[in-house]
Amino acid sequence: MMLLEELLCSLLVGASTVAAFRHNRRQLAADPASFDWSALSPSENITWTPCYGEQQCARLELPLDYATAAGPKAQIALQMIPATDRANYQGTILVNPGGPGGSGTLFILTDGPKLVQLFGPTFDILGFDPRGVGPTTPQAQCFDSPEQSDAWNLPEVIAVREGDGSIPLARARDQVLASLCAAKLGGNGKEDLNATAEEWGPGRFMDTASVATDMLNIVEKLGQQKLQYFGGSYGTLLGQYFAALYPDKVGRMIIDGVVDGVTWQRTGDYLVSADADRVMDTFFENCATAGATKCEIWERTPDAVALRVDRILADLKAEPIPISHSLSGPAVITEDVALGILFEELYTPLTGFPFMASIFSAIEGRNTTFLSQQRYSGSTADLPTWFQRTNAFQAISCSDFPPVNDSLAEDTALVRKATAISRWAGPFSLSRRRISCGAWKIRAKARYTGPVSAKLSTPVLVISSKFDPATPLANARAVVSRFEGMRLLVQDSVGHSAYESLSTCVADAMKAYMTNGTLPPVGTVCKPDLIPLVDSVNAASTPGPLPPK
Ligand SMILES: *[C@@H]1O[C@H](CO)[C@@H](O)[C@H](O)[C@H]1NC(C)=O
Ligand SMILES: *[C@@H]1O[C@H](CO)[C@@H](O)[C@H](O)[C@H]1NC(C)=O
Ligand SMILES: *[C@@H]1O[C@H](CO)[C@@H](O)[C@H](O)[C@H]1NC(C)=O
Ligand SMILES: *[C@@H]1O[C@H](CO)[C@@H](O)[C@H](O)[C@H]1NC(C)=O
Ligand SMILES: *[C@@H]1O[C@H](CO)[C@@H](O)[C@H](O)[C@H]1NC(C)=O
Repeated sequence: MMLLEELLCSLLVGASTVAAFRHNRRQLAADPASFDWSALSPSENITWTPCYGEQQCARLELPLDYATAAGPKAQIALQMIPATDRANYQGTILVNPGGPGGSGTLFILTDGPKLVQLFGPTFDILGFDPRGVGPTTPQAQCFDSPEQSDAWNLPEVIAVREGDGSIPLARARDQVLASLCAAKLGGNGKEDLNATAEEWGPGRFMDTASVATDMLNIVEKLGQQKLQYFGGSYGTLLGQYFAALYPDKVGRMIIDGVVDGVTWQRTGDYLVSADADRVMDTFFENCATAGATKCEIWERTPDAVALRVDRILADLKAEPIPISHSLSGPAVITEDVALGILFEELYTPLTGFPFMASIFSAIEGRNTTFLSQQRYSGSTADLPTWFQRTNAFQAISCSDFPPVNDSLAEDTALVRKATAISRWAGPFSLSRRRISCGAWKIRAKARYTGPVSAKLSTPVLVISSKFDPATPLANARAVVSRFEGMRLLVQDSVGHSAYESLSTCVADAMKAYMTNGTLPPVGTVCKPDLIPLVDSVNAASTPGPLPPK
């Protein structure tokens, strides 16, 4: 077993925009370098090659531009755990872990066993890497080397807020990144049939609708009639675009931790943190309930815990903590570093809340022993090229968004609004993303602007936790109202997606739906198995956050 962090950033967090802090390492079932994707020949039909033990890998060649099928190609990486119950075989489930920019092949390496247990032995589980991501080529790589990328990604701007210079600095940095990416991924406008993918500009074909069409092609090349699919976070957007574009091709589909497809398409969906502060309130409440042995910054009431956190942050702002040696090298723990950690932990409260209590306690006590044992930034330079950090997050998001050209005043107003909606999430990537896309220079050749709605003949199961810091329950309700044939299932928990703190009740509903098409009754609310901080969690057996971060 090996451990991997950082590049598994995901559900809707730009790896490069938040302090790349990950204590929640995910375990990998195999060393990602033990299979050489670059040695695998792409083919126009799916040709499986054994990989990673019992798994199967392939690179599928599809048109870069579906309007010009004779033009250059994209090579889509596919990684599958085959069904073991062949007698009752039920076809293939495609999975996407979110991001955008999360790798489906890496998701199979980290979560394959959990997915097999969840859906059972009658399905193949297939992870694919969207355009720009992982071993899919062309990659969304804007830097000349991983070292250059690492140097750039040192967190010069962690949080954006009014009045401290962070917004203009973020805008300037985003302009630099946008120029680098335009040079690497924007093409030269020739678009000659005999030209290379690079000359066409692969960044113009990384939009979500192109990936939805890739999914349709994967299903057809597998010889199957309809798509079976499980997507979380950004993966729910992929599901919605697929359902809107190919409603008759929707087989059993589960989407969990729901992005609002319409606001994403029209505005860039940047104010999505409506419930983030409810998640933090739950931390304060659970800490007061859990007691001092389980919550290291325990106080008698939630308000007292909240005051203690305020005091810790104020002290840290007044006097940052120098750490000469951490797992990621020298570091300074600033207020923004602490806030960045806090924001990330809101996604996965079962493991995140206990960690938040520990690190805030260590900051309060200036425990440099504890603080030295953490990681505050990450490098992927020692991984194979296909798992090194890329710029897929921006390349995909900004392809889908309408062109924006916000002024500094508009960006400042945006950050002010985002921070009014959520004290804890407002200064982070969800408002930062729109700033990034304001600088972005590459335009998708065919951005999808049609309806994100449809009438479905096969019902779709839509899942949400009650308070989600990145995709509020209101999104799931809005999406269900737009598509005829969706059924909502709520898990009475906090955190990003139900999958990240999966209850027996939701797991059973997912399996019954995928296996038999059975839907939970309208209005079903599942109870969680575990309460963050109050119940102990075996960290080793609980997967950490996934991209869908
Ligand atoms: C791919 O599959 C199709 C349909 O079976 C077949 O006609 C075609 O020849 C195959 N292409 C290659 C390169 O094998
Ligand atoms: C592409 O190359 C082929 C032969 O290599 C040639 O026949 C064709 O005219 C070229 N097409 C364009 C658009 O240049
Ligand atoms: C500081 O952290 C270390 C490592 O986690 C721990 O063993 C020690 O008890 C902590 N010290 C205090 C004073 O809490
Ligand atoms: C964006 O707006 C600025 C100032 O309003 C203007 O100078 C610039 O030309 C605009 N850029 C684009 C691409 O529209
Ligand atoms: C599917 O339906 C069959 C027959 O009703 C039942 O025995 C089985 O338990 C169901 N499977 C799941 C996963 O719900």
